[in-house]
Amino acid sequence: MNKTSIILIASILSAALCGAIIYEAYKAWKINNLPPTPVKSNTDGYYIVNMLSQSSLFNLNIQLEWVAGQNFVNDPSNPVIERLSFKINFDNYNELSIKITDIDDTRFTLPYKEPFPYTKVTYEPSKESLFDYIISVPGEAFYFKLWRKDTGEVLFDTTNTPLIFQDKYLQITNKLNKSALFGLGERRTTFKLKSGQYSIWAADAARIDYGHPGEQIYGTHPMYLKRDDATKNFHVLFLRNAYGMEIDYQENESITYKVIGGNFDFKFFLGNNNPEEPIKLYHNYINGWILHPFWVQGFHQCRWGYKTSEELMQVWDKFNELSIPIDSLWSDIDYMYEFYDFTIDLSRFNISQMKQIYDLKDPKGVHWSSIIDVGIAIGSDAAVRGQELNTFIKSGYTGQDLIGNVWPGNTYYPDFNHPNSTQFWFEGLNNITKNYGLVQEGIWIDMNEFSNFVNGEVLPSVKDSKFLSNQTLKSEKSSLQLPFNPQGDTDLEFKTLSLNAKHYNEKDGLMLHIPNYNLTQYDMHNLNGFGESIATYEAAKLMGRNLTFILSRSTLFGSGKYVQHWNGDGFSQWDYLFYTIPGIINFQMYGIPFVGDDICGLNGNATPELCARWMQLGSLYPFSRNHNGNESISQEPYAFPDYHYVLSSSIKTLNVRYQLLKFYYHLFVKEQGSGTIFRPLMWSFPNDDEALNYEAEFMLGDYLLAAPVVAQGNEVTNTTGLDFYIPQGGVFYDFYNQQRYTEGKYHQDVPFDSVVPLFVKAGKIVHIQDQKPVLRSRFLDNHFTLYIALDSNLYASGSILTINDYNNDENIIRNCLEGANCVTIIEAQGKFENNSFSISLKNTQEQKNTQFQEVVIDKVIIAGISTFGNYISKIVDISSNPFIINKDKQQYDININLQ
Ligand code: GLC
Repeated sequence: MNKTSIILIASILSAALCGAIIYEAYKAWKINNLPPTPVKSNTDGYYIVNMLSQSSLFNLNIQLEWVAGQNFVNDPSNPVIERLSFKINFDNYNELSIKITDIDDTRFTLPYKEPFPYTKVTYEPSKESLFDYIISVPGEAFYFKLWRKDTGEVLFDTTNTPLIFQDKYLQITNKLNKSALFGLGERRTTFKLKSGQYSIWAADAARIDYGHPGEQIYGTHPMYLKRDDATKNFHVLFLRNAYGMEIDYQENESITYKVIGGNFDFKFFLGNNNPEEPIKLYHNYINGWILHPFWVQGFHQCRWGYKTSEELMQVWDKFNELSIPIDSLWSDIDYMYEFYDFTIDLSRFNISQMKQIYDLKDPKGVHWSSIIDVGIAIGSDAAVRGQELNTFIKSGYTGQDLIGNVWPGNTYYPDFNHPNSTQFWFEGLNNITKNYGLVQEGIWIDMNEFSNFVNGEVLPSVKDSKFLSNQTLKSEKSSLQLPFNPQGDTDLEFKTLSLNAKHYNEKDGLMLHIPNYNLTQYDMHNLNGFGESIATYEAAKLMGRNLTFILSRSTLFGSGKYVQHWNGDGFSQWDYLFYTIPGIINFQMYGIPFVGDDICGLNGNATPELCARWMQLGSLYPFSRNHNGNESISQEPYAFPDYHYVLSSSIKTLNVRYQLLKFYYHLFVKEQGSGTIFRPLMWSFPNDDEALNYEAEFMLGDYLLAAPVVAQGNEVTNTTGLDFYIPQGGVFYDFYNQQRYTEGKYHQDVPFDSVVPLFVKAGKIVHIQDQKPVLRSRFLDNHFTLYIALDSNLYASGSILTINDYNNDENIIRNCLEGANCVTIIEAQGKFENNSFSISLKNTQEQKNTQFQEVVIDKVIIAGISTFGNYISKIVDISSNPFIINKDKQQYDININLQ
């Protein structure tokens, strides 16, 4: 039998298996091929009435029809959609879509092409589908149940629950088995979700879980990762719908989606007990994430309140004087003239002073990152230009440009569906360089939910007043009366635009076009920040940027293709400090792994102890930026002179960050646009239930475990007792002193003046740069130390980038991205022979298209050398005869004297 016929037979077999299921449904329909008897009952519901199509064995499309119960009264403002289509599509053996739409599929749906998620895989017939399902037969109230064929784990089960499909209200319930759920949007709560109402409606809010875990903040990510208690398998379920919604979650019981528009469009991604698999599939579906420039991996200092260039200069001088590593010094809204976008207030910001700070040819120079708010001040040149291009959102009341109110007073808002918005946004951003000669290398896009200090909009009668109180609003009511409010008591127009505000809806709409439809904020609200992200990315490209760094507060599924993120406004409090960890992990799942949180907190005053602990933890965030509010006391690392430990631990901890900077960056390069970097313990140890309880610990890749202090300690002893956990089967070596840790619970007193306890996983090699501290990422050279943590077979592996210029974006793009691969694997094998110990290092390429650039290993730290039950470590300087990785497959042996 030749290969083709084997594949053919395998395809037929697996298709037959899959088809068998569909055939069952088909047969059931055939037997009883009648519409449900329209008997008036007390219960309303949908019934299967027709097999619409079965375009292949892997696609099923069934018609459902609404049968009203005796007491049913149709609401004309929110009518029941009487005829539905229910589709199941086997996208691949491990990916499946379930879609419920109106019968002709005419309702608002995000297009199935970029920038929105769409299926890129093609069915692999050689692999047997992992899915199996049943659906109700005609005459029975509609339900379906989907499960995993190999384990029986139920993935979605609507049995005996209502399906509601009205114009502005959709509801479906999935009955859950015993499991843990993670995700469900952006908020400040624990990683493992608790029962609660999880709302999704982009909001400018510093909310936190005080008994209500589902309080919405900035982004829209209706996905969850689920871990089944029994099988410990993971899968991802994504609801491809950007409307406002509430997801009611009852642990181990049910999850109910209540959505105010669109369709039910579910997509399942199955993995085994490694969550990376379904997460990567999901990332691929939402178009993956982009790599940031290397300097962005460094430390950033920001505050709202650096009001003059003189002040920026003082901060810069302090960092230089005290040798605190830093790569970027930021400007918040202070730099603008009257908070007008695309301007600099020259009376307070001296351009030559700015040019001095941001001169990258000067070894002390840093990168300039600065903020742009989405509201365009009425009276500014940008507002005039925006009106010329007719690119602002229109009021649903007046038909004129909608007026809101943000930092500069009254503002317009760009409609990022308008084809002119890209040009408008590009011109504005480009004006900063054109008019002032400064390059805004980090572009921070804020308030893009869109935030508005009045609820809804400002009516023309009050448009001349610059600052408004909420009492001067058009009315106390929303512009639309909704059958359901996904934000509970908080009106959907609270601190944002009127729901009836109009968007551009012609064929050339940038994000979408819905024929014969009045496209409003009601439909577009959760896309606001996404549209701005794309426009900013396009503008950055037009300005000639290679790798981009755009920091966006509001995000949507798919935003990672354009922007990076920080978790928005919080308070300088201990509970906020802890919640930064699950917050960052969530965004790993949401496909924006380069994410951070305001170090030392935005609102309120940080205490020295809190700030020191936050600097320690924050030095391990992917995006590490100290950021402060306008009203708060200073919190730069040097801002607490009476508490020297803040400065000294900040310097130590940032030195560790910079030692690991290339390693950290390599984790991003290695993933090639999908997958996670900053992970909970549980992902590396999926079989250990106890690991779920240690949410303050995290892993960087599968290499380093960090156990930061996130609680207040003892101000007399200046230490905090830290309990931490090494998961079952885990062996780790202390990053700083190579001490061995095996599974179990540990307690350590961690001084305020310290760095984060950090451990290298046995079996892994981490490359570090500890030769000399550097203060800017661009001065890190190509000399490395390998930290080799041997496993019980005296083996370890890792990888390293074979490039020697991380500062040149083009070099990275050419050698590491776009089909190239600059990752080489390094392996270490230890050996005892004739009373001596040796270690053999070798590098092997992952792919052939790597263009090697020289990398020098001139020191090794070897942990886990086992001699008669003892574990010893050795540090060997090989700089006199270094291991130079400059081509494919090389070996290097080191004999180690164990005396
Ligand atoms: C928003 C941002 C915050 C910023 C402030 C002033 O609250 O989230 O980071 O400092 O606006 O621009």
